[in-house]
Amino acid sequence: MSSEIQSMFDAIAIRYDFLNHLLSFGRHKAWRKMGVALIPFSGSDPVVLDSCGGTGDFLYDLSQTRSIHKDSIVGDFSSEMLVQSQKKYPELKILQLDALETPFEDATFDIILNGFGMRNLDSTFAGLSENFRLLKPKGWFLTLEFFRPQNPFTWVFYKVLGPLSIPFIGSLFSGRKSAYSYLLKSIVDYYSVADYCDLGCQAGFKINQTRICFFGIAHLVLMQKPNNE
Ligand SMILES: C[S@@+](CC[C@H](N)C(=O)[O-])C[C@H]1O[C@@H](n2cnc3c(N)ncnc32)[C@H](O)[C@@H]1O
Repeated sequence: MSSEIQSMFDAIAIRYDFLNHLLSFGRHKAWRKMGVALIPFSGSDPVVLDSCGGTGDFLYDLSQTRSIHKDSIVGDFSSEMLVQSQKKYPELKILQLDALETPFEDATFDIILNGFGMRNLDSTFAGLSENFRLLKPKGWFLTLEFFRPQNPFTWVFYKVLGPLSIPFIGSLFSGRKSAYSYLLKSIVDYYSVADYCDLGCQAGFKINQTRICFFGIAHLVLMQKPNNE
């Protein structure tokens, strides 16, 4: 499964940002900015991992609000997504990696970001556990994700309007209809935000807060690794 996802992102990388912008009506930028503003990290120059970082926007947005450590990294298993990141943000370090099995030692990072990546992992719990391992005690994990629809608006959006429009628009601009059909399926089949928070707690995190983005189209979830771990 993960090699299919990797090839899919390699194939759409060049159009990813444009389509992200089009399909979210530009809202994804505001959601990332809102997310990075929630992180109450009080030290200086956090070491940050943008896990499933794709074209690098999440780490870049954080770097615009505070100075980050030079070892901060955009990590992704799609080399083509990382090429796009490097083109846009040559100042950000990139590393090709599998978010489920990273090459880093325990307690390497102060902050981990994950924008729209957790849903793509073979195991969300394994991804949460790996992030837990990588964080220093009191470290922060911020997720921005499309969760399983839970209200009438998101239900109609993802189950009626989305299937009628998103694969068509995706196919028109990227030539990859299947990638955008997969996007919808992966959302309606995914965890609800409440179930995701429960999994985070099972992995050892404490939930700090969740935020609704655009009536529930997306959510931000901020978790912290306790001090005693
Ligand atoms: C929807 S894109 C999100 C990119 C970026 N974080 C953003 O906010 O726009 C999901 C990314 O997750 C990456 N990804 C999926 N599974 C992964 C894994 N197991 N390890 C590393 N990256 C993965 C994909 O290559 C893709 O770049």
